[in-house]
Amino acid sequence: MIRGKKRWTLPKGMPPTEMDKKILWHQEKGHLVPTRSLIKTPEQIEGIRESGRINTAILDLVAQEIKAGMSTEAINKLVHEYTLAQGAIPAPLNYEGFPKSVCTSINEVVCHGIPSEEEILEEGDIINVDVTTIYKGYYADASRMFIIGETTPKKKRLVEVARECLQIGMEAARPYGFVGDIGHAIEQHAKKSGFSVVKDLCGHGVGNEFHEEPEVLHYGKKGTGMLLVPGMVFTIEPMINMGTYKVFIDEEDGWTVVTEDELPSAQWEHTFLMTEEGLEILTY
Ligand code: MF3
Ligand code: CO
Ligand code: CO
Repeated sequence: MIRGKKRWTLPKGMPPTEMDKKILWHQEKGHLVPTRSLIKTPEQIEGIRESGRINTAILDLVAQEIKAGMSTEAINKLVHEYTLAQGAIPAPLNYEGFPKSVCTSINEVVCHGIPSEEEILEEGDIINVDVTTIYKGYYADASRMFIIGETTPKKKRLVEVARECLQIGMEAARPYGFVGDIGHAIEQHAKKSGFSVVKDLCGHGVGNEFHEEPEVLHYGKKGTGMLLVPGMVFTIEPMINMGTYKVFIDEEDGWTVVTEDELPSAQWEHTFLMTEEGLEILTY
């Protein structure tokens, strides 16, 4: 047994299913496999799906309301109040000390931007609004880009390529494939389009908690990372930069992630369920 590596275990007295056999085969070959706790039960999947519906309704509301002249605090208020009205909880609020109910990341801010009364949306800005909802204990996590009025063709293209990267990553994920297949596909598309992929932040398992295993890197090699098994729920959330992939965290607030060259960044995110057929979006 490999020390430190979690193993797939068979429940006592139960004959192995087809799924067990496939996972055990990969485990024997030395591949990283999920633990049983990462395979969601039908009941958990239903809960995450419901949470996803609310999360989508919140993002739809933001899409209706967002405009030039609005503060990012106004977006926070909208998200916070609508979430509570649905009987749900905004997951970011107080998460590891995060002070607001949503992340709002404008232009060179990559992610984890903190809403503020002083920050006003301007014509030409591109902004990521990242919403995570807890409903009946289940988490759903998704983000979209919004373009405020008219922006430059290059910023428009960045937003579009980031969205294509999410789509391409989703299509690369196959049952009994690997997490690395996703990152590989995303990196190829971003580079081919003349942009770079942020490496310091990644997608993640989600559903029973905000951040679970596995790590979903948005770059890398096919056939690496964790085996993808039906019943796993995770995000893909590529952060695509116009210039360098390098980022830093604002020292003052300890959260805001900014591109090193201060060129713009774009990100889209969905929560997905792995099925026998491929990924299903739970945050549509
Ligand atoms: N929603 C982000 C993600 O996609 C995480 C935000 S953590 C917070 O994983 F504390 F900033 F909200
Ligand atoms: Co996420
Ligand atoms: Co998110």
